[in-house]
Amino acid sequence: MSAVRLPGSDHPLQAGEVVVITDRKARRYLVTLEPGAQWHSHGGLVEHDVLIGEVEGTAVRTGKGMEVVVLRPTREDFVLKMKRGAQVIYAKDQAMIVSAADVRPGCTVVEAGAGSGALTLALLDAVGPTGRVISFERRPEHAAVARRNVERFHGTHPDTWELIEGDITEGLPQLRAHRVVLDLLEPWQVIGAAADALPPGGIVLTYAPTVPQVMRVVETLHDDGRFHAVRTTETLVRPWDLDGLAVRPAHRMVAHTAFLTTARRVPSRDEGGPPPRRRKAAAEGHLRWSTPSDPDEPVAAAND
Ligand SMILES: C[S@@+](CC[C@H](N)C(=O)[O-])C[C@H]1O[C@@H](n2cnc3c(N)ncnc32)[C@H](O)[C@@H]1O
Repeated sequence: MSAVRLPGSDHPLQAGEVVVITDRKARRYLVTLEPGAQWHSHGGLVEHDVLIGEVEGTAVRTGKGMEVVVLRPTREDFVLKMKRGAQVIYAKDQAMIVSAADVRPGCTVVEAGAGSGALTLALLDAVGPTGRVISFERRPEHAAVARRNVERFHGTHPDTWELIEGDITEGLPQLRAHRVVLDLLEPWQVIGAAADALPPGGIVLTYAPTVPQVMRVVETLHDDGRFHAVRTTETLVRPWDLDGLAVRPAHRMVAHTAFLTTARRVPSRDEGGPPPRRRKAAAEGHLRWSTPSDPDEPVAAAND
């Protein structure tokens, strides 16, 4: 099976490896090197045999004279070009998720949904050979894409990865995890099960594109009574153009992807944990999505 070898690993390119070919307009193409095969583009073709045995960074010409460069793909290159079933989490958010959820070697991370497996790749790298990633995906066709992408990147099914085709709300209560990472439409539905699966000190992280999702997650975290230090951030990465004296921010950037919300699992107040956060009254503009358990508690409609 093809695999992505570590870029910069000081070995010549081999048959069976996945490489990234970049043309003069910086367009990138993922290619698995096969003896006797050809890579075709509008700018001409390159024989794979010309690339096999070369070092990373070698420039070759197509039959039509266009120069292209061959390198081993970074994880970011791979994610940008791999097959997709669902919208993926890109490098800027993957990096922040690994940092904000403090995913380290040896961690057990439960994630949902696996989608296309983009975040899974980052989590597997972060937990290392001593950790474990358990990914839930309820749509079989998305699970198949995630499996294919992860196995293509690793060249095999990683020992540290379990892909469960099913709903996380059903599977999570049977598990114990250091971290729970949620990229799904209704993350608030999983907060209770995440609290059951996480030991005190553990971290839940949600990735949600819209403000109403974040509001509902944050409210659910506070209402659960077993979470503390709830924080929401978003990450903006602004690329720059650097060309002679024209050194300035690029005209285009990805302005918004999603908000990250993290919270630490703590014992409930009855078990010795911190007091619940004081909730703002309706008059102060607090919006509630769910019915409060205390009937005397003020409730404001979303359009108050
Ligand atoms: C946006 S995609 C996840 C993308 C993924 N993080 C990546 O980087 O490739 C959301 C996925 O969550 C799955 N999903 C939604 N609710 C789920 C649930 N309760 N349990 C398991 N999977 C779920 C969907 O089928 C979808 O494939």
